[in-house]
Amino acid sequence: MTTRFVTLTGWRASQTLANPMAEPKDNPLMEKIVSLCKRRGFIYQSSEIYGGINGFWDYGPLGAELKRNVKELWWRDMVQLRDDVVGLEATIIMHPEIWKASGHVDTFADLMRECPLTKKRVRADQVEPQSGIAFGYFGAIETSGGPIQIGNAIYPNKNAAAKAFENYIKTESPSSLENFSRSKIAFYVEGELKTIFEGITEKQPPEAFTKAAQQIVEEAVPQLKIEKFAILLPHGKPVESARKAAVEFYQSRGLKEPFLLGERSEKIENSTDFHPESGAELTEARPFNLMFKTYVGPVEDSDNVAYLRPETAQAIFAQFKNVLETSRQKVPFGIAQVGKAFRNEVTPRNYTFRSREFEQMELEFFIKPDEVIEAITGRVTPGGELDTRHSTLDTSSWGWEAWHKYWVGERIAFYESIGLPRTTLEEYWQKPEELAHYARVCVDILFKFPFGTQELEGVAARSDFDLSQHERFSGKPMGVFDEELRAAWGKLDDAKKKELWQRYYDARLKYLTKMSVEQKQAEKEAKEDADGLAKGQYIPHVIEPSAGVDRLMLALICHAYHEDQMPDEKGKMETRVVLKFHPRVAPIKVAVLPLLKNKPDLVRKAIEIRDALRPHMNVFYDDAGAIGRRYRRQDEAGTPFCVTIDFDTLGEKPELKDTVTVRYRDDGKQERLAIGELLNWLLPKIR
Ligand code: GAP
Repeated sequence: MTTRFVTLTGWRASQTLANPMAEPKDNPLMEKIVSLCKRRGFIYQSSEIYGGINGFWDYGPLGAELKRNVKELWWRDMVQLRDDVVGLEATIIMHPEIWKASGHVDTFADLMRECPLTKKRVRADQVEPQSGIAFGYFGAIETSGGPIQIGNAIYPNKNAAAKAFENYIKTESPSSLENFSRSKIAFYVEGELKTIFEGITEKQPPEAFTKAAQQIVEEAVPQLKIEKFAILLPHGKPVESARKAAVEFYQSRGLKEPFLLGERSEKIENSTDFHPESGAELTEARPFNLMFKTYVGPVEDSDNVAYLRPETAQAIFAQFKNVLETSRQKVPFGIAQVGKAFRNEVTPRNYTFRSREFEQMELEFFIKPDEVIEAITGRVTPGGELDTRHSTLDTSSWGWEAWHKYWVGERIAFYESIGLPRTTLEEYWQKPEELAHYARVCVDILFKFPFGTQELEGVAARSDFDLSQHERFSGKPMGVFDEELRAAWGKLDDAKKKELWQRYYDARLKYLTKMSVEQKQAEKEAKEDADGLAKGQYIPHVIEPSAGVDRLMLALICHAYHEDQMPDEKGKMETRVVLKFHPRVAPIKVAVLPLLKNKPDLVRKAIEIRDALRPHMNVFYDDAGAIGRRYRRQDEAGTPFCVTIDFDTLGEKPELKDTVTVRYRDDGKQERLAIGELLNWLLPKIR
């Protein structure tokens, strides 16, 4: 999926977490995985000695190796093994205009609601439904001082005023000020307030009416606080605890001794309007931008605001022309980048699944628009009919649908090649209402995590939106010149030229008007763009496979986690925890183990073997403890092979001299191999 824009629909429901470890604790398998990851040095909570920081994670020695492997395998598959993709390594902080052009400044937001008591925020789509009895108040009055005047009436003390006010509300308006009529308010507050109130015309919306009414009443009676508060109590809990919470709430609004006004109660079933921890009614949903802000230079003002990038993709678009000019690539081609991204997620959750700092592996694959393909080849291959895994691919007539299908297939094949079987993956085609406004289609590749089937990667067809935006915002041309198109266009008959011109024009006009370009100007620009076709010019479209490193690591760990029964050294069956990583991603490829630590000949031979293998792979040498224990340690680390050097290696049985035992992690089986064959035996298994 591409960038996240606020929509009321389209967000998958999930649980709200107050602390990073809460959810795994609710899921026994995740709890075991989290505990193993900590115990074996895969993943630690960031800043743990200070109590951790929600949404941030560190990778320990094994995690760091796993992460390197994941990124290197992706890079190799997406960049080095292809002729049509090149790499980029851009900065995390970029010119802030980039995020205006991309739409992130205005729309990269989650809808959030706040608990008025605790100030904790939750994502509007992630509130767990609750039931109980809700107690509500429409306001409170200060009762800590002397006499009080309300309109023409003077009350001897504030308690009496509060009572009078409450009686008035009770008789005139059942529950809240929303039900006040203009005349009632005017009557009530009288005098100059009445005049102010007359200024509010009937045409104004009810919210403005209510707000103004509240303001007037509060101005007339400064001791009054008119602000609704409600709290949900579980069935059977006494009303006093609601009153206590309400008093706390109005105290936080400045009243010393609040007298609660207009208490009412209501039975509530499965409502998502109350905070799951405090029970307080949540505020209205408001957008909350997810970008981390900072300042460039010593002056902290709005001119120096910058953002930590929320995706790596935009740098690729911003550098598109430079890469095109310096890499000798021609469309279709791709630019890949791996790097950190930052999102101030409202509720980081599911361990590392949704973090605030994470890494992405993104490819922006630039393709010709369908009109250009049709002009050059006379047709556009329909995506549906395509066998994209065929080895002799002629991609010359591929339009965006074919390329999109191709990349979905490539990405699934990649996951299979590193040990996630097809049965653990699902394709989710986003519904039209879920798509970001520029996306034509987006397929989420989902993985079956223990906490649910969730997105691992999104493959989106982003049209020419991104380059077009950067062209408009930077004023620099982002189009390409294509000699093939120029030559082909000249040979088209007039009817075809007209048809293709019109289609291109319509698409450009649609984009420009969607971006609120004034109609006349949009028509002018769309015409210029469509006229460009005849000169061999167009703005490339983009297919974007975008994956998360941390999410993929979590998927690999979850899939690798197994418990089985194996005999211990004495032949007694015991439960074993093993990470069955594919050897390509395993942090340690082979462990070299001398049978005994105190036999110098065994140790010498083992070190020789370790040093011979080390230039080619990550080798772990371990001579501490019983051999069975050492195997178990490697099983938990996910090491696919253990090589044991024993007395036969030294020639105790002459026919076994210079051979070692190779033990397989997954089934514990062993075989004997000559030391001289070991490297060539291992290499194809780990690459
Ligand atoms: N440029 C497109 C883009 O950023 P996205 O769906 O928002 O699209 C792409 O992110 C991938 O990045 C996701 O599929 C996921 O793997 C990873 N990702 C996004 N937000 C993440 C987060 N908060 N924590 C961990 N990974 C995240």
